[in-house]
Amino acid sequence: MSQTSGSGGEGHPGTPIGPGELNLMNSRARELLLKYWDFRLFGGALRRHGIDLGDAVVLDAGCGSGYSTSLIWEMFRPRELLACDVMPEQVERARARGLPATVFVGDITSLHLADRSCDAAFVLGVLHHCSNWREGLAQVARVLRDGGVLLLEEPGKQHIAFERAILGWTYTCDSGFNLEELRLELARVGLAVIEEKPLYFGLFGSFLCAKMASHTSARYVVARRLLRTLSTAGDMAASHQVPA
Ligand SMILES: C[S@@+](CC[C@H](N)C(=O)[O-])C[C@H]1O[C@@H](n2cnc3c(N)ncnc32)[C@H](O)[C@@H]1O
Repeated sequence: MSQTSGSGGEGHPGTPIGPGELNLMNSRARELLLKYWDFRLFGGALRRHGIDLGDAVVLDAGCGSGYSTSLIWEMFRPRELLACDVMPEQVERARARGLPATVFVGDITSLHLADRSCDAAFVLGVLHHCSNWREGLAQVARVLRDGGVLLLEEPGKQHIAFERAILGWTYTCDSGFNLEELRLELARVGLAVIEEKPLYFGLFGSFLCAKMASHTSARYVVARRLLRTLSTAGDMAASHQVPA
């Protein structure tokens, strides 16, 4: 499975993150944070809501060096694990871990996966690197089945300002990404926030979301309710009729 990058921007053509941040992302420090902070939050949220990923098809979108993918495997043992990243060098690193996962080059803003083919998706610090982050979120919502869950973490304004100052240009500068916009967009693509917690002392937000039933099925439910009400009203009217 392979996809080409559609995320190139004017500032950094073809590369969503610069070398400085890439080193940081692939560092042991990041791995320790992921293991002892981010994934503890995710594990707790899933447990609190009784969600078991043991029989799930799970996607790690923007898997980086594959460390997040390895934690998903260790902690949740999903039936099937998919992982993608837009940077081929990251995919090579992830593949080198030898995980029981299908690891491929893929762009979150144009995922080549079937509609409703995943039970869960992890998207960790990826959207704010995308020029078209709204489409990235829409793609994740598309590949999740109704009732499927999204484990998401993204930085807020303060961290983005810090990232820009330290690392220079980032996509977030152009794309209008911030946590307020993210919350609105989650609702717009049909992902309900079940739980939101601050991460890294509030510099990031950590979210557990669930995909609501499609608009079609929502309309179907409303139509059925209406029919039931009408037929109950009809029955009541009939039972109150005095025979001629
Ligand atoms: C902050 S790192 C996170 C990596 C890993 N999920 C983790 O938590 O350590 C962001 C990753 O997203 C990837 N990425 C950025 N834009 C992407 C896109 N449009 N589609 C897929 N991956 C993307 C980058 O290549 C990078 O590996």
